[in-house]
Amino acid sequence: MSKFKKYIWYGENGIYSNDIDSWKNQLAQLANGWSISILGFPSGESLELWQRPSSLLNKPHKLIACGFHGEESAAPWGLIDFLKKTQPKMLDQVNLSLLPLVNVTGFKDGTRFNRSGENPNRGFMPHLDDVKLSAEGKVLFQHADLLDRLGSDGVLSCHEDVNVSCAYLYAYERTSKPSTTSLKFRDILSKNFDILDAKHIDGCLLQEGIVFNQIDGSFESWLFERGAKNAFCIETPGLMPFSLRVQSQSLIMQSFVEQ
Ligand code: NI
Repeated sequence: MSKFKKYIWYGENGIYSNDIDSWKNQLAQLANGWSISILGFPSGESLELWQRPSSLLNKPHKLIACGFHGEESAAPWGLIDFLKKTQPKMLDQVNLSLLPLVNVTGFKDGTRFNRSGENPNRGFMPHLDDVKLSAEGKVLFQHADLLDRLGSDGVLSCHEDVNVSCAYLYAYERTSKPSTTSLKFRDILSKNFDILDAKHIDGCLLQEGIVFNQIDGSFESWLFERGAKNAFCIETPGLMPFSLRVQSQSLIMQSFVEQ
C-alpha cells in the first residue's frame, strides 16, 4: 500500500472524513468533565490526552486510542459518536482515558502514515522489527509509565482495514483462548459486517475473526507486554459504508467501558 494514498469518505452528516476542523469542533463540545493535556507536538500537531478520573474508588483504568493510521478515520469519528451517546454516569464507572487522534497529519491528508511517511503504530518494541518509532510513537514512548497506569485494566486501539469488506480484531489476553470480551467485540462487529473468513491476515493467524496474542511492534501489543491486563485492536472494513463503520466503532467503545 502506498504510504501517501488518500482515503477520504463523505459522511452522512455532510462532512468529509478528513475535515479536521469539524472533528475538533465537535470533540471540543464534548470536553465537559474531562481533563485535557498535551503529550507533545509530533509532526507539528498537538497529541492530546483526555482523562476522566472516576469519583468512585477502585474503578478500572482503561485507555481508548484512535487515529494511529490517518486513513482509518471511522475511529476518531466513532469516538465523537460514543462521547455524544454515553451518559456521564456510565463514563464515571471507569477511570477512562482517551488518545482521541494520534496521527493528526495522516487524518488531515487521509493517508495511513504521518506526513513524514512514518508508521505511527510500529516500532514500539525494537527487538521485534526494524521499523523506527514515528514522531507520534516517540511522544507516546516517552509517556510509557503514564500510559501503563491509564491502561492497566484494558487498552482499546481503534483501527480500520481499508482493503477489506469484512471485520476482524486483534486480542491480547492472559488466557489460552479469546475471552468473552473478545467474543463480545466480534459479535458487535458482526451486527454491521460479515466477519473476515480467512486463515491469515497480514501474516498473522486468524481464527474466526480474531488474531490472538500475536505480539508485534504495535502500540497495543507494547502496552500488553508492559503489563496491561488486556488489549484489543479492532478493524472495521473500509470497503463498507462509512456510517456503519463509525457506528461499530462507537458501539465497541461503549462495550469496552461497560465490561
Ligand atoms: Ni491501522
